[in-house]
Amino acid sequence: MSSTAGLGDALVDWYDTAARNLPWRRPGVDPWAVLVSEVMLQQTPVARVEPVWAAWMARWPTPADLAAASPAEVIRMWGKLGYPRRALRLRETAVALTERHGGAVPADVAALEALPGIGTYTARAVACFGHGTPQPVVDTNVRRVVARLVHGRAEAGTARPSDLTDVAALAPAGRERACRFSVAAMELGALVCVARTPRCAVCPVRDRCAWRLAGSPAHDGPARRVQRFTGTDRQVRGRLLDVLRAAEGPVAASSLDEAWDDAAQRSRCLDSLLADGLVEQTPDGRFALPA
Ligand code: ADE
Repeated sequence: MSSTAGLGDALVDWYDTAARNLPWRRPGVDPWAVLVSEVMLQQTPVARVEPVWAAWMARWPTPADLAAASPAEVIRMWGKLGYPRRALRLRETAVALTERHGGAVPADVAALEALPGIGTYTARAVACFGHGTPQPVVDTNVRRVVARLVHGRAEAGTARPSDLTDVAALAPAGRERACRFSVAAMELGALVCVARTPRCAVCPVRDRCAWRLAGSPAHDGPARRVQRFTGTDRQVRGRLLDVLRAAEGPVAASSLDEAWDDAAQRSRCLDSLLADGLVEQTPDGRFALPA
């Protein structure tokens, strides 16, 4: 294992010159806006999140504003970001913040983790990027960066509790720098230390990377699963929601038939949307976004 001294500082210095100018990273963005961005960014590319986040924050600038919105409104605003249960959870979080925290976003990780849909990653991202409280913020990209830089492995493998301590150990001194380090490690994983074709030639820490020093050995574990989308229930659920989002009010089952040809899959997906609370059936048997 190579020495990790100074790695955190080197990443912060690189971040200061190379970071993307993303709206939720600008000075003065409040913890609620950071929380919304982090939920939207889960499994969703930055370019798709940016316009939806901007419109969402303009419409619901505080938790109390979102808490007063209907589930149908939030599902409509979520648009095509995917994994739409996140929209319902976010609204539930806004309700919980309004009821339990006076409409403010707590800085305490345990209090954040107690909110609907807020897990290990998101709680620490909000504490760190929203409140300036240093935390190890570990997403898939950061786990890959640490696997290579510190452990000399091509890939991270499954998440482990030690991921948090591995990352915390790299943080430089000082609250502000430690927080910048957390976003810098994410940014390195997103822009340079990428999964398939790492751009080692432009990496600010290539000379100290345990993986490079070991000769960049290939991954020796099971192959990564490539997530397919076409033909999946996720695609069909999206099509069904598209129909309901575009409609003014409830639609007849026959209108949903046009969304997808395979009747068995269509019906299974409609059932799952009903079970998830993303769709409601009206007393006369039609379907709508939940009021
Ligand atoms: N900056 C802070 N959190 C981020 C995230 N999850 N994705 C991209 N940029 C970010």
